[in-house]
Amino acid sequence: MLLIGAAGSGKSTLARKHFKSTEIVSSDALRAMVSDDEADQSASGDAFHLLRLIAMKRLRRGRLTVIDATNVQRPARKSLLAIAAQTSAPTTAIVLNLPLDTCLARNRTRLNRLVDPDVVEKQVADLTESLHGLAQEGFQRVYVLDNTEDIDSICILRS
Ligand code: CTP
Ligand code: MG
Repeated sequence: MLLIGAAGSGKSTLARKHFKSTEIVSSDALRAMVSDDEADQSASGDAFHLLRLIAMKRLRRGRLTVIDATNVQRPARKSLLAIAAQTSAPTTAIVLNLPLDTCLARNRTRLNRLVDPDVVEKQVADLTESLHGLAQEGFQRVYVLDNTEDIDSICILRS
């Protein structure tokens, strides 16, 4: 399962609410694992290497795997879809498609990690550009949540 959304859209909050900690593979957590700083962008290469490795190991065991990363760019999604295909795992995209202003406002009030507003703006633009083609990328299911009420009330059933 891929969570897709800009910084501040609520991916980690949603993940924590619905999934076990061991089911969540987070790029921020893996950055922190290798560098002690989840915001250290120089650790991104190592973090995503580990993220793909862990996803592969879990999916080979048939374990539900929730990818908590922005996933707003197609190449990032493609590499994860390829891992799912290799392991015959079904794929779901959950898109947290909130307005830029909401993401920026949440980022401003964060205590732990502030993301540069320009970066958030680019992520929202990348996501907007991705939306129309998402269903054709190979996901079995795509759910696009366009407002905070839908994100807060989503019910996730496990098959
Ligand atoms: N938040 C909120 N109300 C929600 C969801 C999130 O106020 N319904 C707040 C969180 O408490 C947090 C901020 O918004 O302070 C960002 O939420 P988070 O889940 O961390 O967003 P992510 O999408 O995970 O952001 P990032 O990509 O930067 O990890
Ligand atoms: Mg997060």
